[in-house]
Amino acid sequence: MKPRTHDCGALRQEHVDQTVCLSGWVNNYRDHGGVIFIDLRDRAGITQIVFHPEAADAHALADKLRNEDVIQVTGKVIARGIDDKGKSLTNPKLSTGEIEVQAEELEILNKAQTPPFTPDEAERTGEETRLKYRYIDLRRPKMQEVLKTRSRVTKVMRDYFADNEFLEIETPFLCKSTPEGARDFLVPSRKQPGEFYALPQSPQLFKQILMVSGCERYLQIVRCFRDEDPRADRQAEFTQIDLEMSFVSCEDVMKMTEGSIRAVWKDILDVDVPPIRRMSYAEAMDRFGSDRPDLRFGMELIDVSDLAQQTEFKVFSNAIEAGGVVKAIRVPGGAKMSRKETDALAEWVKQFGAGGLPVCKVEGGALTTGVSKFVAPIADDLIKRMEAEDGDLICFGVDVVPATVARVLGELRVKLAHDLDMIEPGQWEWVWIVDFPLIEWSKEQQRWDSLHHPFTAPNEEDMDKLEDDPGAVLSQAYDLVLNGSELGGGSIRIHRMDVQEKIFGLLGITPEAAKSKFGFLLDALKFGAPPHGGIAFGLDRIVMHLVDTTNIRDVIAFPKTQTGVDLMTMAPSPVDDAQMQELHVRLNLPVK
Ligand code: AMO
Repeated sequence: MKPRTHDCGALRQEHVDQTVCLSGWVNNYRDHGGVIFIDLRDRAGITQIVFHPEAADAHALADKLRNEDVIQVTGKVIARGIDDKGKSLTNPKLSTGEIEVQAEELEILNKAQTPPFTPDEAERTGEETRLKYRYIDLRRPKMQEVLKTRSRVTKVMRDYFADNEFLEIETPFLCKSTPEGARDFLVPSRKQPGEFYALPQSPQLFKQILMVSGCERYLQIVRCFRDEDPRADRQAEFTQIDLEMSFVSCEDVMKMTEGSIRAVWKDILDVDVPPIRRMSYAEAMDRFGSDRPDLRFGMELIDVSDLAQQTEFKVFSNAIEAGGVVKAIRVPGGAKMSRKETDALAEWVKQFGAGGLPVCKVEGGALTTGVSKFVAPIADDLIKRMEAEDGDLICFGVDVVPATVARVLGELRVKLAHDLDMIEPGQWEWVWIVDFPLIEWSKEQQRWDSLHHPFTAPNEEDMDKLEDDPGAVLSQAYDLVLNGSELGGGSIRIHRMDVQEKIFGLLGITPEAAKSKFGFLLDALKFGAPPHGGIAFGLDRIVMHLVDTTNIRDVIAFPKTQTGVDLMTMAPSPVDDAQMQELHVRLNLPVK
């Protein structure tokens, strides 16, 4: 094999008459009356190669070429010029479309068997086949672009944080479990029979310990593992851009990390991210029914409980009497939806705890269909409150639990915005969500639960409420949200033992349990822990936004399916008995 002189995206008019050597894959093959045309592809692009019968050896070999063969071609760059009818032969769709390479020598570096699909066919190929033959899928230019973008993001981030004196420090993968809320992946220990490591859900405790260690500014681009069901933007194995800083406030962390996001959007998309607005958790829940509000469209939640109370509609009055609320969203243009479609929505919202979905339409200045009969006495006030116009649909969320109403309408507004094409492309709606409650009451477990994690610091001003009104205590936490997706989240941490113990007490974590689970952190807090805080961004989610996909598997080189399987290697897989014995593990499978 000779050294290649150029890549397949490099050649232009100015290279005409040069002899070049290119390597790559046969993207496609055409025989035009004895003249053979090959599109040669490498990661940089595609170059057209022509084999004329005069270059007899090369032509004879080229005649045998098929898709995905790996070849090397030496030849002369010629301008594509015009055909005998005077039509230009240049191809404006290719960066190399002004030229072609007239082959003089051809070396077949490796013949390929007929592939299950070609990169050009990947878009029309099922995802399972693409994941099984991921190496072919990754050859397509779109996927190469994703890998390039991903690599670029980590470079920009590393440069930005290095310039700001962050140290990149690795933390263990074989750890004790940290309480991040998900299920752990466990690794049996061979040397400590009956004991297990957990793969880290995040490096949370280690990065805090690094602050106690005097590192002051920590960065790690790190894999995290959470044994939870994958979703469109969630994988069991994903990557965080993880940060921690000492002697800082919420503002310091938000300002510093906002800068990194700004650098990435500028570098990759040449988009200027303006100073990012702040919104309290309470406002986000009230207006958008979500702590990751999508601000690219309206349909805000409006409280109509006072009006609903004036009707005799039992669904409304029963909920309000029991301490619940009635809220509504106005769906512009939604009146064109059929009964079948609104019934389908009512079914859809049940997954979020709704009993149903009362709706009515605005037509001819009045309310029609659905529950219009029941809300007739408040029709004028309702139309005014909702700022509704003819052609709108009004959807009501009703429940005794206000959080259920928020969830139902919050999810519904996002679904409708997508279904009814309300989102203008190219919008970037950023928001920091702040002032989260520190804890929330868990009905199932009948105890307080952290909204973030148990190491999140309460607001200084709220410390005196910890005992009497813990639900009203706000925390020093912040989440970065883009277009309705949570890109990152973090907080200032508790750095004092006494406060940490108090919070554990609130969460029902006994001193013994705290000692056994994270005694090392509690110890560290005793020996000079500086005030500190940090954040972690989801790298996969950042790249999803940058390359405009809604499928997290598109931005991970070797992702897992919905059932947690890597279809290429077929992991997970059984292991042999000897391995199990060495690990002191015995299977306890259900009898089939
Ligand atoms: P958190 O759990 O909020 O915080 O995670 C931080 C960010 O990581 C991304 N993320 C995920 N991405 C893909 N798949 C997943 N399963 C997944 N889970 C989370 C999200 C999220 O915003 N230790 C804290 C951070 C801190 O407090 O500093 C933590 O892990 O973009």
